[in-house]
Amino acid sequence: MNIAVAGTGYVGLSLAVLLSQHNHVTAVDVVPEKVDLINKGLSPIADAEIEDYLANHELDLQATLDGAAAYKESDLIVIATPTNYDSDKNFFDTSLVEQVIDLVLEVNPGAVMVIKSTVPVGYTKELTERYPKGKFLFSPEFLREGHALYDNLHPSRIIVGVPSESAYAGELDEAAQKFAALLAEGSLDDETQVLIMRATEAEAVKLFANTYLALRVAYFNELDTYACVRGLDASQIIEGVGLDPRIGGHYNNPSFGYGGYCLPKDTKQLLANYDEVPQNLIEAIVEANRTRKDYIADEVLDRVTRLVYQGVAQPKVGVYRLTMKTGSDNFRASSIQGIMKRIKSRGVPVVVYEPTLDAEEFYGSEVTHDIDAFKEACDVILANRWNEELADVEDKVFTRDLFKRD
Ligand SMILES: NC(=O)c1ccc[n+]([C@@H]2O[C@H](COP(=O)([O-])OP(=O)(O)OC[C@H]3O[C@@H](n4cnc5c(N)ncnc54)[C@H](O)[C@@H]3O)[C@@H](O)[C@H]2O)c1
Repeated sequence: MNIAVAGTGYVGLSLAVLLSQHNHVTAVDVVPEKVDLINKGLSPIADAEIEDYLANHELDLQATLDGAAAYKESDLIVIATPTNYDSDKNFFDTSLVEQVIDLVLEVNPGAVMVIKSTVPVGYTKELTERYPKGKFLFSPEFLREGHALYDNLHPSRIIVGVPSESAYAGELDEAAQKFAALLAEGSLDDETQVLIMRATEAEAVKLFANTYLALRVAYFNELDTYACVRGLDASQIIEGVGLDPRIGGHYNNPSFGYGGYCLPKDTKQLLANYDEVPQNLIEAIVEANRTRKDYIADEVLDRVTRLVYQGVAQPKVGVYRLTMKTGSDNFRASSIQGIMKRIKSRGVPVVVYEPTLDAEEFYGSEVTHDIDAFKEACDVILANRWNEELADVEDKVFTRDLFKRD
């Protein structure tokens, strides 16, 4: 098949690589540097499998800035452009998805479009009403950043949603089966469960899955806050709790809060979707993450105050990496930024060590790439995730990374 993928971020590039093992794929982006790198067989994002597949596997993949030409030639268009939720304005920004849709409808109105971007519940149904001639599917994406292609080579499940309201519902049912088969064909697993459902339910699956993950992070973080305040060993409690097979010993490592591109926006979006629907828990998850960051910031400020009493004139707080996870190459909405903001609002100077950030300042704070100078200059070092390069200054480090893993 001729397939176009709009957006070459974590979602789009991993899918473009996956699908180009057996199909002709054109990956479209608006950033020339990304297109150039992909055409040279190099990955614009840090992801071991994408790097390996681009360099060493036989792929029928081309990248381009020319969306119109790519969409015109394609039987199927996968949309993986960014979406955003602004909780202050209660506004979900899907304009970049719609930019692609408008272009596809202009140059190739009969093509099936599969939306992989995360959207509010009911979005595909609404699109179908707004663009009655458009053929839309929604397929939730479950990958993790840093393991984007791995998670598509070994998918936990494949879900494709069909808007039953569409005049093309019959054709779209078939297209949904076909798209699921394409994803399965590109994967390395034989028995991946495929679910075809209505688009609205598929959209809900994505938001409820991410909100459960946020709940779990918030739960173990709140357990950790309790243990810290009461002087208990959180790791012993978590280990004991997790040995119940209904709970499990995974995804339970305390942190400064859930963060990253997806969990904060998807939980808030789900909460907005609950408008006029009774709930307590969804709101509590969002609140719990705020409370956790307040607690962590207060603990850090206590340390700073103690240092002042010990005679340090103006203690400096160091932020060791802005990223959420070890090995990550982006820091969109990372929780450590929330801690940093709280500390700076109290007038404490902050220095950032972030080797992937090519800038001298980050929100008015000095950025350094010199780890030794950073360790020397800072009195307290915040690390959402521990790294062995901090071992020689362990007594300065403030972390809640109890199990030394993501
Ligand atoms: N990152 C994740 O872990 C993850 C997981 C599941 C779902 N999602 C969802 O998938 C969507 C994309 O996420 P991502 O992390 O891949 O985003 P990203 O920001 O890494 O990549 C998006 C890409 O789209 C490009 N783009 C923007 N406008 C475009 C246009 N008009 N035409 C073509 N390309 C365009 C950008 O330049 C960028 O390269 C979001 O809705 C996100 O919520 C992300």
